[in-house]
Amino acid sequence: MEIDFNQPVNRKNTGSMKWDATAKWFGETEVLPMWVADMDFMSPPPVIEALKQRVEHGVYGYVDIPDSYHEAIINWMNSRHGRTVERDWLVTSPGVVVSLGLLVQCFTEPGEQVVIQSPVYPPFFEVIRRNDRIVANNELKLENGRYTIDFADLEQKLSPDDVKMMILCSPHNPVGRVWTKHELQKIGDLCLKHNVLLVSDEIHADLVYREHHHLPIWSISDELAMNTITCISPGKTFNLPGLQTASLIIPNPKLRETFQTLLKNLFFHANNVLSITAADSAYRHGASWLDQLIDYVRGNLDFLLNYVDKHIPQIKVIPPEGTYLVWLNCRELGLEPEALHQFMIKEAKVAMNAGSSFGPGGEGFERINIACSRATLAEGLKRIEQAVKNLSS
Ligand SMILES: Cc1ncc(COP(=O)(O)O)c(C=O)c1O
Repeated sequence: MEIDFNQPVNRKNTGSMKWDATAKWFGETEVLPMWVADMDFMSPPPVIEALKQRVEHGVYGYVDIPDSYHEAIINWMNSRHGRTVERDWLVTSPGVVVSLGLLVQCFTEPGEQVVIQSPVYPPFFEVIRRNDRIVANNELKLENGRYTIDFADLEQKLSPDDVKMMILCSPHNPVGRVWTKHELQKIGDLCLKHNVLLVSDEIHADLVYREHHHLPIWSISDELAMNTITCISPGKTFNLPGLQTASLIIPNPKLRETFQTLLKNLFFHANNVLSITAADSAYRHGASWLDQLIDYVRGNLDFLLNYVDKHIPQIKVIPPEGTYLVWLNCRELGLEPEALHQFMIKEAKVAMNAGSSFGPGGEGFERINIACSRATLAEGLKRIEQAVKNLSS
């Protein structure tokens, strides 16, 4: 079935964080929302159909997650990523960020260090700091418009005895890197060498542009599988984040048991019935929708690259290899980070994520979400172009 992603969907008055809460988050109602990472598109038609049927059933009692749900995930990992996940390895959770918080609590102690790589998704800082752990930051390097890892610094950050965990963002939000096998192998080997547990957030794994290839880091070797906990989710892939479901892949039985004990002690034993219905259907029937979505978003990316190059040359785009989030280098505009963000809100009237919220290295950047109709994207870019023209004149 051919999907028309140009078809506008009015998301106002749906309780949408992106569309209805701009006054709260940006102090403005009249802004074009191009921020939080969900898409303006309807989910795959089979998902909507499955949800309709489930809703019409009318009874929403407690769920005991059926084996068929795990099978759907296993088949997806097989067909989409060519990897065999065993049934026992899968643990269901209500979301990736909550899982990161629980993993930090489960496998580190207050005062211990956790390595992350900024600029990175802001909750990575928060799950560490709010749990009284310490951030050890291996800042990414920006060289010729592409981000790479400073491995000497990474080794230094992983070496102290009180470093217990690294949280990897793979693919990386916001810099858009899809890490290569070589990079992943080096990260994994360094974690093994320094006895640091690797948590890999692979929520963006399915959203990779065709010339790139996402490799689940656990699948590189048995040693890495035993030292890695991976978070996956249908949330970004099929635009279901409001339904709140995710899975952890934990091949190491000892780590899995420790984590499952924490979940049991917190009485985290059930998921929302609609999330299970939607995710099951998405993993089973969503592949062709996803292929079309990636092509459409790729078209948006090309549109943005051309537009910015031609009309807003003061802004340099970091071309993403994956994710629908694009990292815009606005440093040439010469504004301080907060002034830049306010300029985008107040002058351009576009709500994006402030680069500085992604930690060191994010200053002078803005993150734009291009999972919207081409018309919305064009409108957002036109607004930014006009504001930048006014600024220079
Ligand atoms: C890297 C990353 N992890 C996790 C999340 C959110 O996951 P969840 O909604 O399952 O908590 C996001 C959302 O933007 C993300 O970019």
